[in-house]
Amino acid sequence: MKYLIDTANIEAIRYLNEYYPVAGVTTNPTLIAKENGDFWEIVKEIRNIIGPEKMLHIQTVQKTAEKIVDEALLVKQTLGGNFYAKIPICEESLKATKMLKELGIGVTMTAIFTPAQALMAAKAGADFVAPYVNRLDNTISDGVKVVEYIVEQFKNYNLDCQVLAASFTNAEQVHKCAVAGCHSVTIAPKIFESLIAHPMTEAAIEGFERDWEAVYGNKTIMDF
Ligand code: E4P
Repeated sequence: MKYLIDTANIEAIRYLNEYYPVAGVTTNPTLIAKENGDFWEIVKEIRNIIGPEKMLHIQTVQKTAEKIVDEALLVKQTLGGNFYAKIPICEESLKATKMLKELGIGVTMTAIFTPAQALMAAKAGADFVAPYVNRLDNTISDGVKVVEYIVEQFKNYNLDCQVLAASFTNAEQVHKCAVAGCHSVTIAPKIFESLIAHPMTEAAIEGFERDWEAVYGNKTIMDF
């Protein structure tokens, strides 16, 4: 399982990249706009924080295949490193995917809501597909089930495309994707903490501290 951060917030990325086993960052136009700053300043700083090795998935905003390709090339050339053009699925983006793959550029096909869309994206050459779990759950669909079907489909046809599940509102959805064999998830900063928090863990740690202090006070192992 690879964990990516789904945000364009610089402070959150800096913090999570320092503490958690993060494989990269994904953004979309909504997340960039939320930061309300200069596009290049934001994405260059993200690359600077995570370094060249980790994945950076930046969503394009152009509407025709040729322009999507131009935009993706510009971002790749400007930022360098491990880059994926994140493109919402449509006919133009399928065409763009084939063109980008010929140029050796990674592609993440996003805004995926059905296994049929995912299969088409994979056949066009996408490296990742991003199904939106919580948005599916919000429409009384089963987002995790869709992820499960996509994972199964890729296995059945031996396709070299990974599932990057996206759109989460809680740790349970992320956990169920992991159980379904999902390759990677991109999650909002607040969900990282939920994935490791448990009241019994806190109680256990408090107990260890209390018992130690009762006998050794403020001494640490290094003081012996
Ligand atoms: C990532 O690829 C998507 O842009 C993002 O996860 C959507 O999440 P949301 O449904 O919380 O907006």
